[in-house]
Amino acid sequence: MTTPELTHPIAPPALPGVAGSVLDLIGSTPMVRLNALAADLAAQVVVKLEGRNPGGSAKDRPALQMIRTAEAAGELLPGATIVESTSGNTGIGLALVGRLTGHPVVIVHGAGMSREKLALLALYGAELVEADWDAGPDDPANPRAVADRIAAERPHAWRSGQYDNAANPAAHFTHTGPEVWAQTGGRVTHLVASIGTGGTITGTGRFLKQVSGGHVRVVGANPAGSTYGGEQAGPIGIEGVGTRWPTSHWPSIFDPAVPDEIRSVPDEVAFATTRRLAAEEALLLGPSSGLAVAVALDVARDLPAEAVVVVMAPDGGANYLSALAPGMEEDAGWR
Ligand SMILES: Cc1ncc(COP(=O)(O)O)c(C=O)c1O
Repeated sequence: MTTPELTHPIAPPALPGVAGSVLDLIGSTPMVRLNALAADLAAQVVVKLEGRNPGGSAKDRPALQMIRTAEAAGELLPGATIVESTSGNTGIGLALVGRLTGHPVVIVHGAGMSREKLALLALYGAELVEADWDAGPDDPANPRAVADRIAAERPHAWRSGQYDNAANPAAHFTHTGPEVWAQTGGRVTHLVASIGTGGTITGTGRFLKQVSGGHVRVVGANPAGSTYGGEQAGPIGIEGVGTRWPTSHWPSIFDPAVPDEIRSVPDEVAFATTRRLAAEEALLLGPSSGLAVAVALDVARDLPAEAVVVVMAPDGGANYLSALAPGMEEDAGWR
């Protein structure tokens, strides 16, 4: 008796409703209109749910694009290690895509990263290295410096460099922007996005401006304490967004010419909006989504009924439940 062949030496036939791998599930995220929160507005406010990506955030897109681009350019060799410093979602995207493309992944993270995200990185098989997130750009303990050092020590290791890698905004220019245009039937008038590396706002905003002949207005959502809004640096209470560094150290892939304006929001307002999204729209989103929605509601306030304000929601809320509802277990009497 012959042993049955368990692997597929040739690609199996495609099945109409079945993705070939999790990589094929990246992108094509849904959009939903806000109802209760926008009840007193004439304009429509619609949210793009990037948390529906398989790694749970918008960052799956740049992770895939950065890896594929580097492989094609011969910068990332088969089986070579990927090293990144990240506050979370990019690491998860890289760990997920790295696993499926055969690359080990090292993630340099700060002490403040949520335990849920760290656990997820470990489950995807990433190696975790903690660095001092408050160390300045010229300090060797700085996360980017630590990641550079690890990459230099490991043969063929590749720094994905999300802050300087053109494939980051390119993922959003090539995919996110066209999706928004198609899903709104070309009726989008405003785009609101928070700014971390600036990849989302630069790529999506640039595409929408080009395709609309400059008619789409792009608005950045900035947490108070971040210098993207032009104010003094201070504490930032929202993961993944804002910067405390001066303009000279802003990510090179962020094009400040793309946003027409940047509005700042205090952390409490961003968190309160995130809680309202869950309570009134049944939309469980992360705090940076609440930040962007708070700005979008403000932008939409004076707009006419034809206006369509698209808000990017970078991730879902499951990873932030303890921050969104502290003490909930006791209050609800679960035990
Ligand atoms: C939770 C969260 N929100 C927003 C962003 C901002 O996205 P971008 O880096 O494309 O500016 C990020 C990026 O890391 C993020 O993790």
